[in-house]
Amino acid sequence: GLTAAAGLSRRPAATGAELRSAVPLPPPFRVPLPLPAVLEPVATTGGVDRYEITQREVTAEILPGVRTRLWTYGGTFPGPTIESRRGRPVTVSHRNELPVPTVVHLHGGRTPAASDGYPTDLVLPEGWSGGHGEHGGHGQGHAMHDPRAVTTDLTRDYTFPLDQRPTLLWYHDHRMDFTAPAIWRGLAGLHIVRDDAEEALGLPAGPRELPLMIADRAFAADGSLDYPSLDPTLRGRPGVREPYLAGVLGDVVLVNGAPWPVHEVDAARYRLRLLNASNARHYELAFVDEGDGRTVEFLQIGADQGLLAAPVKHFALPVAPAERYDVVVDFSRFPVGTLVKLVNRLGSGRTREVMAFRVARKAADDSRVPAVLSTDLPTWRRSEAVRTRDFSFRAGRMGEDGGHGWLIGGLPFDPARSDVTVRLGDVEIWRLVADVHHPVHLHLTGFRILSRGGEAPFAHDGGLKDTVSLRPGESAEIITRWEGYRGRYLFHCHNAEHEDMGMMANLQVT
Ligand code: C2O
Ligand code: CU
Repeated sequence: GLTAAAGLSRRPAATGAELRSAVPLPPPFRVPLPLPAVLEPVATTGGVDRYEITQREVTAEILPGVRTRLWTYGGTFPGPTIESRRGRPVTVSHRNELPVPTVVHLHGGRTPAASDGYPTDLVLPEGWSGGHGEHGGHGQGHAMHDPRAVTTDLTRDYTFPLDQRPTLLWYHDHRMDFTAPAIWRGLAGLHIVRDDAEEALGLPAGPRELPLMIADRAFAADGSLDYPSLDPTLRGRPGVREPYLAGVLGDVVLVNGAPWPVHEVDAARYRLRLLNASNARHYELAFVDEGDGRTVEFLQIGADQGLLAAPVKHFALPVAPAERYDVVVDFSRFPVGTLVKLVNRLGSGRTREVMAFRVARKAADDSRVPAVLSTDLPTWRRSEAVRTRDFSFRAGRMGEDGGHGWLIGGLPFDPARSDVTVRLGDVEIWRLVADVHHPVHLHLTGFRILSRGGEAPFAHDGGLKDTVSLRPGESAEIITRWEGYRGRYLFHCHNAEHEDMGMMANLQVT
């Protein structure tokens, strides 16, 4: 059955509590950093690269000596990385051999609606007969009743034109009400888009470019991924969603699927492509020289949607769920032998540490970080905006049982309701306001952050974004031009539990 297949514990968690693993955790900086394999296309026809991914359950050793059942793209967590060229379309054929329906979304991709992974646009597993016995979802559970739900068979082709700025994208599950537990179990992978202009800059590349997918998890006594699944005996009672209200946090920090890993580096510049793939955990990342305890400066070169205009110096970087930051760290400033820790200044205890770099050897370095990184960043002016819209992101009551959920403009997600209609070509300003921390993500478009709390945005808010981290009580203005494709898209909070508990809305592009 599903419970066994999912391997989840039914222990409810206290609101906002961090789950505590019930297995021994390894000491930090012992496990080598894994690098997800790059997927090869199975065919190229008419200039379109075709990839195949089978979604399936595997048992893997994430913690040394502990066997953990995972839901994977292609047998690994993270899934295989897809590397693409700007403007060269790819088709990814996903086959679902998991015990539940799935939906694939390419986060940050400018994708036609048919391939964008609408939450009821399901790839069904063999013999699926409805959600009987399934648990771990947080929403209203009516996805199956949406008359527009597309129910296909075991495989589905997603086509991505990738006609967009080069950047680090990621693909992950997006099924209505069940996104958070599906990502937690392992359904996430990277997709890098490159182009000639970026490669001509001379940034660190090859083994000196590292994608780092950071995600927290917790492990139950039997080695399975712990998750506060809905206890069936509580179903239908008011307040039943309370266990997940703040989002689920684990006490183990994984980078590319390994706990607190270590990576040997040359004394040279490295380009680190950071992604926070956690369900709910926020990080404030900093590099610390373990020898003298000093925090080390680094350069931000890119945001969610590609390169900045010019590099920006930081000593720390807040990274909300789904955000990507492209940074360059110069390890040549450290003596050989130095351990440089990547720390999370928002963590406590073991979640204060993320991973470490061991400076292993002196090496030549002909990489550079040019003063001008890109010249194609859109600079939409306020005066160009034809419309300003307001959206609140707040807690509220939802569902038949009146349990707590998360709402946009006072409403929980409903696939049958039309929320916002935008016109291709229009420039719009959106004013967003939050009660607690909400990382707000828009599909299809990239935007610029105009203001935060009525003031200028932070130094790390530059560039083109697809996710803006609203802090508690904060408002922000973003500006975008709607470009790309007509159809039905989404915007939502990327705290994955908030998303499953209703904090998502429809966006019709006409
Ligand atoms: Cu990364 Cu709609 O999500
Ligand atoms: Cu949220």
